[in-house]
Amino acid sequence: MAQMRLDRLLGEMGGGTRTQIKELAKKGRVSVNGQVEKKTDRKVDPAVDKILVDGRQVAYTRWSYYLLNKPQGVVSARTDDRYPTVTGLIRDADRKDLFPVGRLDIDTEGLLLLTNDGDLAHQLLSPRKHVDKVYFVTIEGRLPEDHQKQLAAGLTLEDGTRTLPAELSIQREGADGMTDVLLTIHEGKFHQVKRMFEALGCRVVYLKRISMGPLALDEGLAPGQYRPLTPAEIGMLKAAGTAKGPSGAVFAGKEERTEEGAKRPDLRRERG
Ligand code: URA
Repeated sequence: MAQMRLDRLLGEMGGGTRTQIKELAKKGRVSVNGQVEKKTDRKVDPAVDKILVDGRQVAYTRWSYYLLNKPQGVVSARTDDRYPTVTGLIRDADRKDLFPVGRLDIDTEGLLLLTNDGDLAHQLLSPRKHVDKVYFVTIEGRLPEDHQKQLAAGLTLEDGTRTLPAELSIQREGADGMTDVLLTIHEGKFHQVKRMFEALGCRVVYLKRISMGPLALDEGLAPGQYRPLTPAEIGMLKAAGTAKGPSGAVFAGKEERTEEGAKRPDLRRERG
C-alpha cells in the first residue's frame, strides 16, 4: 500500500482533526512499530506499519461498503436537524466518511448501500447505467386493465416527465382493496415509484426496495440492521457500475440529471 501521513491515516479512521491528533501524539499516546511517535507528519505504510493509539491498534480501511435495511423514519442523509440519519445507524463503521448511494424517502424501507467510494456511487447512480431497482409495493386502488401496456410504453408523470419502460408483477390482490406488487425500474427519478403509481391512478401505502443491480436485501436483516458487503458483492457492484447501458452501448446524448443524486458533489447531501 502507498505511504501516507500518519495524521491523515488517523484522521480518516475517525481520530479527530489534525490539531487533535497532534495533541494526542504530543502526549505520547501514538506509537508506530512499538516506538512512541510525536511527529504526525511522518509517512507510514498502513499495510506494513503497526500503529497504536492508547495501546489499541488502528486498522486502516480505505473503502467501506455496507448494506443497510433502511427503516422508516430515518433520512437518507449524513446529517439532519430533525430526524435520525442512515449513516448514524452504522454504529461500528470503520470509517466516518460514509454516505448513502442515492436516497429512499423517509417512509420507504429497504436496501440502501452506504460507502465512502464516490466513484462507485457515481457509476451506480448514473442515468446512463440503468441499474435495475426492484421495489415491493403495496398500493391502494385498482390498477387499470392495460397497466402492463402503459408501463412497457413508459408513463408520463404529473409534471410531464417520461419514465423508461418498467416491469410489474402482481403478488397478491387483497379483498381490502390493497394490492402487493413487485416493480422493476431502470432509473431513479425523485419519488419515482410513488409518482408512477399516481400516474396509474393508485396510491402507494408501503414501499420497500429489495434490490439494486446485483445487490439484494437479505431476508435476515431486520429494518435498521446492516452488514458489510462481501468481496464478491463489491466485485459485482463494480462490474454493474462499469458495464455499459442495457443495449451494450453507452446511452447516447447528454447525461440526464436524476433526482436520486447522480452528480458527484450532491452525493453526500442527499435528503430523503
Ligand atoms: N421511489 C419513491 O417514490 N420513493 C422512494 O423512496 C424510492 C423510489
